[in-house]
Amino acid sequence: MGELVRFGVSLEKSLLEKFDAFIKERNYANRSEAIRDLIRQELVKREWIEGEEVAGAITLIYDHHRRDLLRKITEIQHNYQRFIISTQHIHLDHSNCLEIVAVKGTPDEILRLADRLKAIKGVKHSTLGMSSTGKDLE
Ligand code: NI
Repeated sequence: MGELVRFGVSLEKSLLEKFDAFIKERNYANRSEAIRDLIRQELVKREWIEGEEVAGAITLIYDHHRRDLLRKITEIQHNYQRFIISTQHIHLDHSNCLEIVAVKGTPDEILRLADRLKAIKGVKHSTLGMSSTGKDLE
């Protein structure tokens, strides 16, 4: 962690009240921690927009009984192998599987991979957690 700097912020009382309510709701320890987190969120958003190297997690929920689906998921993951750090497969119940694919690469590549996996027939739900490599965050 870098050197800590204190700075003052002026804002409307009503806005500060809303911010304090937000802090309480989200269980932040204090205003500083909440502001740090909001700044980091914006910086990560910019990493995704500016096309820098990013990291994240794709989740997939699917029924493994669908024959063609497993083959397609495997094929796509092999094609995008250089962006996939690891894959975890969890058997949720008799039919449903949860797959978590940890990814790292440029936003374009990651978004394309997430879209291709999501588009497979039989995938019931899919999300992309857009995070950061952490290199440019404190
Ligand atoms: Ni399974």
